[in-house]
Amino acid sequence: MNIAIIGSGYVGLVSGACFAELGNRVICVDNDAKKITALKKGVIPIYEPGLRELITINMKKKRLKFTTSIKEAVSSSQIIFIAVGTPSKAGGEADLTGIENVARNIAKNIFGYRLIVEKSTVPVETGEWVKHTIATYKKNKAKFDVASNPEFLREGQAINDFMHPDRIVIGVESKKAKELLIGLYGPLNAPIVVTDIKSAELIKHASNSFLAAKISFINALSVICEKTGADVIQVARGMGLDKRIGQSFLKAGIGYGGSCFPKDVDAFITISERIGYSFEMLKAVKKINQQQQEYFLNKIKNLLWIIKDKRIAVLGLSFKPNTDDIRNAPAIEIVKALQEEGAVIRAYDPQAMERAKKVLKGVNFCADPYLACKGSDCLLLMTEWDEFKELDFSKIRKLMHRPLLVDGRNIYKADQLKKAGFKYSAIGTGGSGK
Ligand SMILES: NC(=O)c1ccc[n+]([C@@H]2O[C@H](COP(=O)([O-])OP(=O)(O)OC[C@H]3O[C@@H](n4cnc5c(N)ncnc54)[C@H](O)[C@@H]3O)[C@@H](O)[C@H]2O)c1
Repeated sequence: MNIAIIGSGYVGLVSGACFAELGNRVICVDNDAKKITALKKGVIPIYEPGLRELITINMKKKRLKFTTSIKEAVSSSQIIFIAVGTPSKAGGEADLTGIENVARNIAKNIFGYRLIVEKSTVPVETGEWVKHTIATYKKNKAKFDVASNPEFLREGQAINDFMHPDRIVIGVESKKAKELLIGLYGPLNAPIVVTDIKSAELIKHASNSFLAAKISFINALSVICEKTGADVIQVARGMGLDKRIGQSFLKAGIGYGGSCFPKDVDAFITISERIGYSFEMLKAVKKINQQQQEYFLNKIKNLLWIIKDKRIAVLGLSFKPNTDDIRNAPAIEIVKALQEEGAVIRAYDPQAMERAKKVLKGVNFCADPYLACKGSDCLLLMTEWDEFKELDFSKIRKLMHRPLLVDGRNIYKADQLKKAGFKYSAIGTGGSGK
């Protein structure tokens, strides 16, 4: 099939490369001319394992190309995916100006039947607005359908998630749209959930909000564990083995971040408010997430007493491992808060330092974890990259001014760290570190 993907970010690039790998001819569009120039030269603007290889191979096979022109993409493609960003506005509402802008541009360039598919995460009823916008700005009688096909990939394992999804959700209102999308996704052999457009839009916000709720639940529990001396890791295991609950998303830590959960929880709260329902549970999910960062900061203060002039080593800046994405990363917020109190930060991340340099000033970015630890009064583990699980702690013990480790992701074993001479503090487990 001939496919266009408008918006070549994490979702657009991964979807475009994977659709091409499945044998389709894909044209990826972006209004960021620098990004498209780089992509044409094979320079990939994001870090996502396996993406560079997939893009390079499919460009060579002439199944994948890049452009800034929506006109070019619309004229050559029967299915057009919209994958532009839908960031939060100040009040939490989703900013849909990108979606509207793309819909208008598609409308101006439609000359035959086209299926326009929302892949971006959008509020329920956006499909109706997209349809209305295209109908309003279209210059001829060309027929079109709108569909919703929310994306569930996770950064860091996006290609595998795209190629082996738990399910594919398609919201459609015509037989033709349904057949086209089922045909496109057929090779993946995944369960396909076909719904109306509004239900598909809601499935995405509901799923992300539910996952965020699971994280906030275990984080709230970690506070109770810490105050009572229980161990949140054991509690989570005991809960998670119950198939009705499940083990995933029951890891206590410094809170969820990234470009999706905070934004989508905010958007779902405002969508609910708009239609007259106050979603108190989601408001609590958001509040607990914010509190989790505050607890972490207080934990550091309780261990260091005065933060001013303390040298703090930070390992991990991205919002989760295997990505360079720092959008709403808890690590970034925590570093800023520590800097405000006068801390001297030395940081290392395997992939996210270039992006972090743009938002963090006065941080000493180090070439490896050991350099970050040199002369430090405290080491903070913020993101659970695999390489941090295999550090040489006897070496780090000698490098640090004071051997104190605060583990924001519960990746280390308290007894091993204590044996290596560290004071160790984690989240809801392993003692206070004092
Ligand atoms: N990142 C994820 O893990 C993920 C997962 C599932 C769903 N989503 C959703 O997918 C959407 C895209 O997310 P992302 O992380 O890929 O965002 P992103 O910011 O990485 O990419 C968006 C891209 O769209 C481009 N763009 C913006 N306006 C445009 C316009 N008018 N015309 C052409 N291009 C335009 C931007 O330049 C950018 O390259 C969002 O709605 C997000 O919530 C993201």
